[in-house]
Amino acid sequence: MNIKGQSFLTLKDFTPDQIAEFLDIADWLRDCKRKRVRVSGCEGKNIALIFEKTSTRTRCSFEVAAYDLGMGATYLDPKASQIGKKESIADTARVLGRMFDGIEYRGFGQEIVEDLARYSGVPVWNGLTNEYHPTQMLADLLTIRDYFGHLAGIRLTYMGDARYNTGNSLMIACSKMGLHFTCCAPKKYWPNAELIEICRGYAAESGATLTFTEDVVSGTTGADVISTDVWVSMGEPDEIWEERINDLLPYRVTMDCMKRAADGAIFLHCLPSFHDLNTEIGRAISERFGINEMEVTDEVFESPYSKVFDEAENRMHTIKAVMYATLSEEPWPGNRA
Ligand code: CP
Ligand code: NVA
Repeated sequence: MNIKGQSFLTLKDFTPDQIAEFLDIADWLRDCKRKRVRVSGCEGKNIALIFEKTSTRTRCSFEVAAYDLGMGATYLDPKASQIGKKESIADTARVLGRMFDGIEYRGFGQEIVEDLARYSGVPVWNGLTNEYHPTQMLADLLTIRDYFGHLAGIRLTYMGDARYNTGNSLMIACSKMGLHFTCCAPKKYWPNAELIEICRGYAAESGATLTFTEDVVSGTTGADVISTDVWVSMGEPDEIWEERINDLLPYRVTMDCMKRAADGAIFLHCLPSFHDLNTEIGRAISERFGINEMEVTDEVFESPYSKVFDEAENRMHTIKAVMYATLSEEPWPGNRA
């Protein structure tokens, strides 16, 4: 593929072949990293990292990947930049586009990242918006491919809040790449009808199926991958915890879910996760509502089913692949024929 100069805003913008190639590039870059082989093509470039919401994995992935590729990275934290407060997105984009070769944005509405791409004139990478989390999807797909050797035909069940960035993006990723996607959640947490319709179109092409159920037993039986995310996302108000806990407690990933899944099933979570009391929020929720673990039990999180740290490492390799594909002056070896 030649997507040099393009932005990476949502997987909706990419074909299944292009998504597979991002994974191949990530695989190659991971191999180079492990063998300590330097990769050329991006040296001397500079990237800006705008974070209007906090991050551990995404920020570190962009920074480490940038340094590995010989690029400079400038981090703008949630409080320090003028973006949106004293300066419009369009003005910010036009300024940053004069200084940087690429811009990562994490924050609120998808329209912000679209505007950054429209006005900056350089590739913009979506590091998470309310609607989508596309770099996370490449890491999830790579992890699934690492474990099962293929993507098409894998049965993935997502439990919990499926109408936000992670749930939406997993439905897109699965339907594009031929995985059978099951949304196991109360109906009000299913992705919106318009996005489901779009994904049904992708599924018709790829052979994927989409299933929506409120029934935990049928939703988890025979799954190859069970995945979940936090019940309250960044930017959502504190007041909704009570409703979310009441609604989603039956959709916690437990050992019973994993035992009902297929032989060799794995558990994935984009992280961070509330699976014990070793976080401030986890302890506060425990005091208020009397629960000691939320979207996944500590038993599952710490079990051999759990591949969450492989998934986290793959964030870096896949984010590096996105930057390489959109910025590099050289084609990657797999594209040289
Ligand atoms: N999964 C993920 O995006 O993690 P961070 O919020 O730490 O970046
Ligand atoms: N849905 C979560 C994902 C965090 C990586 C959030 O938006 O907070």
